[in-house]
Amino acid sequence: MADEKTALVTGALGVLGKAIVEGLLSDGQRVVLVDLDQKKLDEYSGRFPAGKTLPLACDIGDPAAVDAAVNRISGAWGDVDILVNNAGILSNNKAETTTPEEWHRILAVNLDGAFYFSRALMGGMKKKGWGRIIIISSLAAKTGGITAGTTYSVSKGALVSLTFSLAAELAPYGVTVNGIAPAYIKTPMVTVQLNEEQRQELLQKIPVRRFCDAEEVAHTVRFLAHPLAGFITGEIIDQNGGLQFD
Ligand SMILES: NC(=O)c1ccc[n+]([C@@H]2O[C@H](COP(=O)([O-])OP(=O)(O)OC[C@H]3O[C@@H](n4cnc5c(N)ncnc54)[C@H](O)[C@@H]3O)[C@@H](O)[C@H]2O)c1
Repeated sequence: MADEKTALVTGALGVLGKAIVEGLLSDGQRVVLVDLDQKKLDEYSGRFPAGKTLPLACDIGDPAAVDAAVNRISGAWGDVDILVNNAGILSNNKAETTTPEEWHRILAVNLDGAFYFSRALMGGMKKKGWGRIIIISSLAAKTGGITAGTTYSVSKGALVSLTFSLAAELAPYGVTVNGIAPAYIKTPMVTVQLNEEQRQELLQKIPVRRFCDAEEVAHTVRFLAHPLAGFITGEIIDQNGGLQFD
């Protein structure tokens, strides 16, 4: 891409987060890395050339922490052009075994965090007349969760509505808002939180007969972030190996 843009990726230390960060860096962007642990963020940031990453610990479910992070970014790098709301936590509990604490925590991270960052950064994008907000939803938004639990599925469904709502609000300002609905990426959600029997069962159900590589989802993020994707907004891109067509 011609000129360097400033991106922010939440959940930057996760498997998908790292693939997105590294993809955006290779497209020439500089990237704010948001995750929970400052020391690990600093270590990760040390792998890249100076000035290309800004590591910032922030619990995205805490609105005061998000405001503080945005203030620091603004002081250091100014406005953010590309926001990738990627951080998310999984729970496989179905409704009857879901506690109110679990319900609130999962919604706070998966949904509230995306809202807080979008709200805080959209002003700068509107001012410039250019911006990208990309939201990582999930196939679970449509299926109700094949293996995922109730709260997780609800949080991902709400992210689809957030995508539509922000897309409508921001379209006149050159800011696009799109979602990606992946399924079964090779991350700890698949490699650790599912057992071998669940994995084998799933592989039989996934038409392409494999799990998704994180780089494939990162590629979709990079596509949506590209200047030539500016006529796509309010879209949810399925990336599910044929598990569901619509
Ligand atoms: N793995 C899959 O198969 C799959 C499928 C569909 C959607 N997704 C979505 O992709 C996204 C990335 O998932 P992943 O599989 O890479 O997970 P991951 O667990 O590898 O990464 C998630 C990252 O988010 C960070 N995080 C958690 N809570 C946070 C908080 N409160 N504040 C800041 N950071 C926080 C974690 O520390 C972690 O680094 C999630 O939104 C997930 O729901 C994953």
